[in-house]
Amino acid sequence: MSVESYKLAAARHALKFVEPRMRLGLGTGSTAALFIELLGAEVRAGLEVLCVPTSEQTQALAAKFGIPLTTLDEMPLLDLTIDGADEIDGELRLIKGGGGALLREKIVATASDRMIVIADSAKRVDKLGAFPLPVEVVRFGVTATRNMIEMLAADSGCQGEITLRYDRDGRPFVTDGGNYIFDCAFGRLEDPESLDEALKFIPGVVENGLFLGIADVAIIGGPDGVAVMEAQYGESPETV
Ligand code: A5P
Repeated sequence: MSVESYKLAAARHALKFVEPRMRLGLGTGSTAALFIELLGAEVRAGLEVLCVPTSEQTQALAAKFGIPLTTLDEMPLLDLTIDGADEIDGELRLIKGGGGALLREKIVATASDRMIVIADSAKRVDKLGAFPLPVEVVRFGVTATRNMIEMLAADSGCQGEITLRYDRDGRPFVTDGGNYIFDCAFGRLEDPESLDEALKFIPGVVENGLFLGIADVAIIGGPDGVAVMEAQYGESPETV
C-alpha cells in the first residue's frame, strides 16, 4: 500500500459526509484533489452540491470535473469544507499552507459549519512543527516583517530558520492573494496558541498556517485502514 492509496482512502471516506444540496468548501493540495475527483464523479451521477474553491488551482480542477462552483461572496456560509493538512496533532490542531493556499483555506474553513481534514497517516504527529510553519506576508516591507516574526516568535519560545518561499523558476512564490510566504522551521511547537497570537500582532503578516480550533473531524488513511478523529473542543478528541 502506498501513501497515495492512504490519501485516496481518506478522500473516499470523506464523501460519506457529503449530503445532497450541501454548500461545500473545496481544499487545495494532492489529497483534496483526490476528493475533488471523487466528488466530480458523484456530481456526474446526479449529486447536487455547490462549491467554493480555496485556490485558483482547485477552481480549475473542480471545473474540469464538472463541479458547480460559486464564490464565497455569493455564498458566504458553507455547510462543510474538506481539505488536506501538512500536520495534524492529537487535538486536531493543524499546520497547513504547504501548497501556499493557507489564507483562502482558512477563510473558507471558518465560513463553514464544519471542517473535515483528510490526510495520510504520515501527517499525524504528536507535536506540530516538524513541518515548517508557512506565514503569509504582504510584499511591502518584507524584511522588516521577517525580523518581527523572528523577534515575536522567539518571545513565544520559537526559534529557527525563516526562509522566503521560492517557486520553481527561482522567483519568490506569490500566493493567490498576491503575497509572499515565509516558511518558519521552528521545530516542535510547545505552545501553538501563543505563537499564533504573536504572529497576529505583526502588521505585515496576513495569516499563518496554524489552524487551531477549526477542524472538526480528521480522516486519516494508513496501513491499518481509515481512522476518524472527532474534535471535542474542551475535551480530548476521540478516535472511532
Ligand atoms: C495547501 O495550501 C495546503 O494547506 C494543503 O492542504 C496541504 O499542504 C496538504 O497537501 P497534500 O494533501 O498535498 O499533502
